[in-house]
Amino acid sequence: MSLYTPETVECNGETFNIYLTKEELEARVAELGTELAEKYEGKNPIFIGVLNGAYIFLSDLMRQVDISCEVDFLKLSSYGDEKVSSGEVTDLKDIDADIEGRNVVLVEDIVDTGLSMKYLVDKLQKKGPASIATVTLLHKTEATHHDVQLDYVGFQIPTLFVLGYGLDYAQEGRNLGQIYILDSDKD
Ligand code: IMP
Ligand code: MG
Repeated sequence: MSLYTPETVECNGETFNIYLTKEELEARVAELGTELAEKYEGKNPIFIGVLNGAYIFLSDLMRQVDISCEVDFLKLSSYGDEKVSSGEVTDLKDIDADIEGRNVVLVEDIVDTGLSMKYLVDKLQKKGPASIATVTLLHKTEATHHDVQLDYVGFQIPTLFVLGYGLDYAQEGRNLGQIYILDSDKD
């Protein structure tokens, strides 16, 4: 249980306010886990987490998926140290597992423009899985302009920079137990 749950945090000189509480996150993650368990019962799915951002969400999500399943990770770089997407995706680590014929559940922290998720689905599709489902904790609905199918979405959020629960700002803030939003972006 995370104790790092202040109302307001400073990160890289900017102020962020609480946006999604620990309780809200726990409840939604449990719902998603139950849905996934029902869908994948008997199919031994392999969860693929996108490092670094998705590691906390994925670890909580998997513990709510009450069926036999596996996990692997890949790593992408897209945002650099900025608050806007660089528009480029770089592969930093591929999965180790052979996913040919497997049911893949691809897990992201957040979908913004949709570039990363689209890139990953196309990349994994070439490895011949039986199926790929996409899961994202957060979706910046209005910012997404790449054509990508999102099968499970935790929360639809506005186009605002968020932090915590795995999500970083220039590598800081991932260990926050809740999700915070940039103060100056608030109405
Ligand atoms: P996309 O490729 O534009 O959809 O961007 C997705 C990636 O950008 C995510 O996997 C995150 O790593 C990062 N990202 C997008 N929005 C945010 C944010 O508000 N906070 C932190 N990281 C973000
Ligand atoms: Mg990410």
